[in-house]
Amino acid sequence: MPKSVPVAIFDCVVFGATGDLTLRKLLPALYYRFRDGQIQSESRIIGAARSRLTDEDFRDRACKALEKHVAPDDQDPHTMRSFLGQLFYISIDASRADADWRLFDRVLDDGAVRVFYLATSPDLYGPICQALGAAGLVTEKSRVVLEKPIGHDLHSALAIIENVGKVFSEAQTFRIDHYLGKETVQNLMALRFANTIFERLWTADVIDHVQITVSETVGLEGRGGYYDRSGAMRDMLQNHMLQLLCLIAMDPPVSLEADRVRDEKLKVLRALKPLDPHEVATQTVRGQYTPGAIDGKPVPGYMADLGADESSRTESFVALKAEVRTWRWANVPFYLRTGKRLPSKMSEIVIQFRAVPFSIFPEESAEWRPNSLVIRLQPEEGMRLEMMTKDPGPGKLRLSPTSLDIRFEKTFGRRFPDAYERLLMDTVRGDPTLFMRRDEVEAAWNWVEPILEAWAARPDHPRPYPAGSWGPTAAIALIERDGRTWHEDVE
Ligand code: BG6
Repeated sequence: MPKSVPVAIFDCVVFGATGDLTLRKLLPALYYRFRDGQIQSESRIIGAARSRLTDEDFRDRACKALEKHVAPDDQDPHTMRSFLGQLFYISIDASRADADWRLFDRVLDDGAVRVFYLATSPDLYGPICQALGAAGLVTEKSRVVLEKPIGHDLHSALAIIENVGKVFSEAQTFRIDHYLGKETVQNLMALRFANTIFERLWTADVIDHVQITVSETVGLEGRGGYYDRSGAMRDMLQNHMLQLLCLIAMDPPVSLEADRVRDEKLKVLRALKPLDPHEVATQTVRGQYTPGAIDGKPVPGYMADLGADESSRTESFVALKAEVRTWRWANVPFYLRTGKRLPSKMSEIVIQFRAVPFSIFPEESAEWRPNSLVIRLQPEEGMRLEMMTKDPGPGKLRLSPTSLDIRFEKTFGRRFPDAYERLLMDTVRGDPTLFMRRDEVEAAWNWVEPILEAWAARPDHPRPYPAGSWGPTAAIALIERDGRTWHEDVE
């Protein structure tokens, strides 16, 4: 395994250290970076949470988390022991005014880069930052990392941005969207801007429409309390899906400098056509899963997963049609859909090209399918360009769709690092390219909020869909009304 270049010595304080995100994602990501030589032995990872734990208790929990979430072949006992030795724990109730923030003096090194990672509820972002500031813990080399969602709506997002901004400058603030750290998502930039063949075709003249699907088989996974207040729109669409849309729709940035890339994404968000209540009714579909089966196994419905008695109007599925009002994308719809308890876990972008303007081949000679570029973000990461070719052999001329297929795993033959590995090291390096700038968050909420408001004003519930299906039938009708089909239906 090639060693990576070490990043500067750092102290990373993770608030919400006993939570699911820390144990499932952050600690394994830090372990991998440590194993690959990127984290030096003087760096420290400091868990902070309410539970009364000692450093040793926290290391035990971290050890169990690594055993569960790191691939068995990557669990080297010696490396794990050394890594755990760099973990410390501070018990603090960040919501209390009398919390003793001086406890951090025990573990923080004045000269090191400081990363404060807030893996807590967004309501605590402002109070934690203010307390850190008041306790004099924010040095010039400090940064704060905020997990999504930033707020619940535009108003609460602005309040958080404002409060955090009183302590950390924009350059010190890293708003994470882990989709941007996925290898295949970063590869979208390479695909578009390191190859001449695609960029020339990336326009309304050639592209008929774009589909972005992020489907999951899981349900609420014990996160019902959070999820029921968010729903698919706030949990997935406002951030991950819109960021994917930005990377597909943006113009080439003048350089890879963080702000030049973010300027271009921002333009896309600002060009999204706002939906009025009538368009919300016709161009969006929200759904909630009912009992069904996935991979032949029965699974409960949303309400049973939530364990609540009263009915909930939270959507676990959303499909919608968006338009980017620019020269490049005039009249090219973007169909987005995401949901829980769908038949498979996959994230995929389909660039559907237009049909040939005129065919010289007899209609009956082919199973006609216009070209499409299918970009698989996960799993089976790769790309497939679907094209028409002649069936080999003598006799009548026959054409069929075939594909040029690249599977990254086969091509590169190595593990794809988890998104958090890259993003955590970027925060230490102070590179904000793959993080959302304040104005991006605002623009995304600006577009999403009228949809949420229109939904809230309607008396109807999200449409039911059985777990293991591709969402409510209305989602199929949404695209079929335009004479198009969701990609899996044509496979
Ligand atoms: C998170 C959402 O941001 O992304 C979860 O809060 C979702 O609800 C997860 O399950 C999906 O991420 P990934 O990387 O598994 O596609």
